[in-house]
This record gives sequence, C-alpha cells and structure tokens, in this order.
Amino acid sequence: MERAVARVDYDAIRANCTKLSELLGEGAELCAVVKADGYGHGDVAAAGAALAGGASRLAVATAVEAEGIAHRFPHVPLLTMGALTAAEVDIAISARAEVAVWREPFRALLAERARALGGPVRVHVKHDSGMGRLGSRDPGQVLALARACDADPDLELAGVWTHLATADEMDSCFFEEQLDRFDPVAAAVRAEFPDALAHAANSAATFRDRRAHYDMARCGVAIYGLDPFQSDPASRGLEPALSLRSYVADVKRFAAGDTAGYGQRWAAPAETLVGVIPVGYGDGVRRGLSNNAEVLVGGRRRPLVGTISMDNVTVDLGPDADVEPGAEAVLIGAQGEERIFAEEVAARLDTINYEVTCGISARVPRRAA
Ligand SMILES: Cc1ncc(COP(=O)(O)O)c(C=O)c1O
Repeated sequence: MERAVARVDYDAIRANCTKLSELLGEGAELCAVVKADGYGHGDVAAAGAALAGGASRLAVATAVEAEGIAHRFPHVPLLTMGALTAAEVDIAISARAEVAVWREPFRALLAERARALGGPVRVHVKHDSGMGRLGSRDPGQVLALARACDADPDLELAGVWTHLATADEMDSCFFEEQLDRFDPVAAAVRAEFPDALAHAANSAATFRDRRAHYDMARCGVAIYGLDPFQSDPASRGLEPALSLRSYVADVKRFAAGDTAGYGQRWAAPAETLVGVIPVGYGDGVRRGLSNNAEVLVGGRRRPLVGTISMDNVTVDLGPDADVEPGAEAVLIGAQGEERIFAEEVAARLDTINYEVTCGISARVPRRAA
C-alpha cells in the first residue's frame, strides 16, 4: 500500500491509440499529444505506449517537454505546438523538434538559430482559423511563410495546420466554419508543397468528422481513455488509463455532531465511522471537492466529508462499515464493480477531465498498473 499513487495502464493507452488509428482516414497519421507530462500520465511511458499502439508522431507544448522525451524516441517526429522564446528555440532545435511558425520575424530567428546550431529545422506554419490564439489569421501570410520556409536552406517546410475551438461542442457550427476557412489554406500550401502535412483535428474532431482528419490528427485526451465530450469514455470505445489510489490511514467513531476538518464544514448527522485518507490538494485532489465527492472503499462509494486539506481527506464510512485501517481507497478509477471516472470528478468541479488528470501533482508517483 502506498500513501498515494497514480496507476497508469499503458496497455489501455496503446489500445486507445489503435482505436484512434483505425478511425483515421486512409493515409492519415496519428500524432500522440504528450504535453503536460502526458496529461498527468507520465510523458515518456505514455509516448512509448502510444507509438506501440499506432501513433507515428508525438507533440508537446514546450521546448523543455520536447527535450525531456526527444532522446528517448530519436527517430520519431516530435512537434512543439506552443510559442517559443529565443532561449526555448535553442532547446527545441537541440531536441531536433519540429517547430510552429506563424510570423516572419520568428521564422527568421528560427532560421538563424538553426544555422548556428547545425539545423535545418522542420516547421509547421500555423493558420489561426478561429481559435484566436496562436497562428496567422491571414491566409496570404500563411502561404508566404510556407514559401519562405521552403526557400530557406536552414528550414524545411513540414506542415500547415490549425486548431479547432469547438470540436467538442456538437451543437456549434463554428467547427465547420473553421474547417471551411482552413480548407483553402491547406489546399494552397499542399498544391505548391505536396509533402507538407495538413493537420487540424484534436481528439473530439477525430471522432466527430473525417473531414477534419487531413494528413494527421493530434490526439491528446482520448489516447488516455478520457472522453473529449465529457461523457462516458466507453461510449467511444475508450479505456481510461489512470487511477488515483490511496488507503485508509485511520478509522474513528464519530458521535452525532462531531466535526471533521478545517472550518468544521461537516458534522456527523448521526453516529458513524469516519476514515482518514492521507491525500489532499497537495496531491491535486482539489479543495472544491470538499463535501462534494465520493471515494471507493471496500468496493462501495463513500461520501467525502469535510474540507479537503493539503494532505488529508475524510470519508463517511457509515455506522456499520467493515473497514480496517490499510484498506484501499480509490479517488479515480475502479474498485470491484464500482468506478469513479475523471469525467465525474470534473463535473463536480465544473471543469473538464483534462484539468483533473493534469492536476495530479508531482508528489504522486506514476506507476504502471
Ligand atoms: C494545438 C493542440 N492540438 C491538439 C491538442 C490535443 O487536444 P485533445 O487533448 O483535445 O485531443 C491540443 C491540446 O490542448 C492542442 O493544444
């Protein structure tokens, strides 16, 4: 028994990637997004599982993330999707990462640093088709940048891409609107540079519409078995990979009116047994779950009661519970027939499953299930 552990089923990540690869159109590659330590699942191990499952490329957000995994997979194309500072450019180039470009001054800086560091660097020119974050809104500028990259001996044009803002919102037609904007941009770049990959899809778009697949899909959340639509992962054939486990460190009898935790935010309504589980917001079990979550102990759901503190939470085991100190406690994942999904935890916090698994802190070791 460990104080707290995130058990990660890397076979599930492999299977989810195989499922996503099968969904993709003929010739479209799967790029596994392993930023933010693989959405909290451990980036190197997740990347290895994703590649075993059919992914042929990897993507991260930052140069330091690229540096952390590049040497483990030296022959796998790795894209840094985010903005890079000048210092990060050198790190990305040294990691042989492919880099996102959408402004001429950055393109010129990248070429200069590539020359200094023994380039060339492969670049993906980004079109902002409506996300309103990174990328150029001007289709003419996207094509001009693609030409400039191709003409520069220190750069290689690897792709043209965009990111979708509402792929997970089935009732929004902005998804189609963005694809309508990106289509001619991708077509113009590919007409001149047939080897450039066009890519737009995240996990939700991959499930939603083959039209978004182009030459590659950048899937993150779904490879971890998390549902991009915040519903039941099984409804899309996905298998959740992560569980968050701890144990009952103590069990004590409460009389009616006895209180648990900071601020006395819970009082026992009647005599009961309360279990103390030594995890808290220091582990990423968010304080917003105070009096607002369930934990699996002895194969049953038990209400989490009182305020979540940094290192402890308390659960109401009921007056007749047959639970001894040392019993396993599951905050996310399955125990017996019961299961708590990251999507359920997210709904209680009015957030998304991404934030729940990314939020599990570095204090919690990740171990293969
Ligand atoms: C640019 C970009 N592409 C792809 C993804 C993967 O998205 P998802 O996890 O929804 O599949 C992300 C993640 O946020 C992203 O920022």
